[in-house]
Amino acid sequence: MVQPKTLLIFFLFLSLLLFIETKHNHEEEEEVVNRSMFPDDFIFGVSTSAYQVEGAYLEDGKGLSNWDVFTHLPANTVRGQNGDVADDHYHLYMEDIDKLEYLGVNAYRLSISWSRILPRGRFGEVNPKGVLFYNNIIDNMLLKGIEPFVTINHFDIPQELEDRYGSWLSPQMQEDFVHFAKVCFEKFGDRVKKWVTINEPNIYTQFAYMYGTFSPMRCSLPFGNCSAGNSDLEPLIAAHNMLISHAKAVKLYREQFQPKQGGIVGLVANAFHYEPYTDDIFSYQAVERSYAFNVAWIFDPLIHGDYPPLMRKYVGNDLPKFSKQEKKLLKGSVDFLGVNHYTTFYAIDCFNSDECTLMDNRPNRGFVARAIARDGIPMGDQTGVSGFQVVPHGMEKVLNYFSMRYPNTSIYITENGYCPPNHLEGSEMLHDFKRIEFHKAYLAALANAMRKGAKVKGYFAWSFMDNYEWLKGYNTTFGLYYVDRRTMQRKARLSAKWYKDFIENAEKSSTISTF
Ligand code: NOJ
Repeated sequence: MVQPKTLLIFFLFLSLLLFIETKHNHEEEEEVVNRSMFPDDFIFGVSTSAYQVEGAYLEDGKGLSNWDVFTHLPANTVRGQNGDVADDHYHLYMEDIDKLEYLGVNAYRLSISWSRILPRGRFGEVNPKGVLFYNNIIDNMLLKGIEPFVTINHFDIPQELEDRYGSWLSPQMQEDFVHFAKVCFEKFGDRVKKWVTINEPNIYTQFAYMYGTFSPMRCSLPFGNCSAGNSDLEPLIAAHNMLISHAKAVKLYREQFQPKQGGIVGLVANAFHYEPYTDDIFSYQAVERSYAFNVAWIFDPLIHGDYPPLMRKYVGNDLPKFSKQEKKLLKGSVDFLGVNHYTTFYAIDCFNSDECTLMDNRPNRGFVARAIARDGIPMGDQTGVSGFQVVPHGMEKVLNYFSMRYPNTSIYITENGYCPPNHLEGSEMLHDFKRIEFHKAYLAALANAMRKGAKVKGYFAWSFMDNYEWLKGYNTTFGLYYVDRRTMQRKARLSAKWYKDFIENAEKSSTISTF
C-alpha cells in the first residue's frame, strides 16, 4: 500500500516535470530575436505625430488645423475626445526627450504641425514661436545623441486651406505643401537629415474622401453616407495631389538644400499584407489587386513614375493621369520608402463573385473584400483596433513584396505597434506582455526578411507613448509609455523596459521574460 505522503511527493515531482516541460516548449515556440541580428548602423526608434501628442492647440500663435475644427464637433469622435491637450508634449517635451534617452533609441520620428509653423498656410507669415518649439526639440534630441526623423505632414493641415480651396482636392495644395516643406528645410534642415514628406496618403485619403470619417467628411454610397463627395473619384484625386506635392518638394530639396544639408527624403505609406482567402486563382488575383490598389498606388509613382498598370486596367480614366513632366518628377523621387505595417488580411475576390457584401461590412478598393478569419479560425490574436490581428509573418511577406517590386530601394519601418483589445486598468496597464511578444515576433520576421535581402535600414515602434488616436481618442493605447490622462504623468510600461534592454544588449534575446 502506497503511503499518502509518498503519493503527494510523487505528484509534486510530476507537476514540476510538467512545468519544466511546458516552459521549455514555450521557449522553443518563442521567436528568438536580438539586436545583433541587425546591422550596427540599423536605427531603432519610436514614432509619434504632432496632433496626437502636442496639445497646445491654440498657443503661441498656432492657427487652427483641420483636426482642431473637426474634433470640436463632439459627434465626430469617440466620446467627443479631441487633441486640444493630447499628451501636452508641447510643454513636457524636455521630460519626453529624457525618456527617449532612457529608451536608448537612436532616432525619434516626430511630425511638424503645419498650422503651428504656418497658421494660414502660404497666405500668412511663419510663426516664430512654432519654429522655436521644434528647434528646441531638435536641439535637445541631438544633445542626447537622438536623431530627428521628421515627417512634414502627418494628417493635419491648416483649416484655412480646407476653407479656401478644398485642400488636397485642389492642385493649389501643391503650392502650399511645397511652401511649407521649404520653410521646414530652411529652418530645420541644417540638423534634420531624414525627412518624410507625407504620412500615409493611402489611409488619409481613404478616411477623408472614401469613408468620409475624417475631415472633410466627404464620401458617397456605398462607402459612406456623407452630404457631399465621391468615394470613387476623390480619394484618387487627393492622393494624386499629394504625390505631385511630394515630388515637387523633393525636387526643391534636391536642388536647393540636399547639396549643402546632405539629408535624405522619403514618403510613408501604410502597407498591410494580404493572404489569399481560398486556394484558387481568383483569390491570388484579389491579393494582387489589394496590393496594387492600396500600396503600389502610392509607391509605384515614386519609383516607376506612374500608377500600377493593374489599377489603370480596372479603374481606367477615373484614375488621374500624370503629365510627362510629372512622371519625370515622380520617378525616383524617394531616397527611401517608409512603411507602416500593422496587420494582415485575407483578400476575397469580388470581381468574379458577388458574395462579397456578405463577407465584409465595408467596401474596399480593388474589387476585394477583407476577412480576418477563415472557416471560423482567426488569423491571429485580435488587438484593440477592429480588424487588426497579430500576424507576424505578414511583416516578412510585405517586405518580400517590396524587395521584388522595388529592388534596391531602402526601406524604413516607420511604424509597427500593438494596442490591447481592452482598455486595461491598474497594474495590467503597465504589464504589457502582449506588446512585448508582438514586437519580438514582428522584429524576428523583419530579421528574416532582411536575411533574404530586404534592404531595411530602421524600425520605429508606434508609439513612444499613448496618444490621441484620431477618431478613437484615448482608449486606443499603442504606447511603450502609459500616460495618465489626469496628471499627464508618463510611466514606462514593461515594453519600454524590454525595448531598452533589446536595443542595449546585442546578444541577449531579452531579459524581460514574457512568462
Ligand atoms: C498610422 C498613423 O500614421 C498613426 O497616426 C496612427 O496612430 C497609427 N497608424 C495607429 O493607428
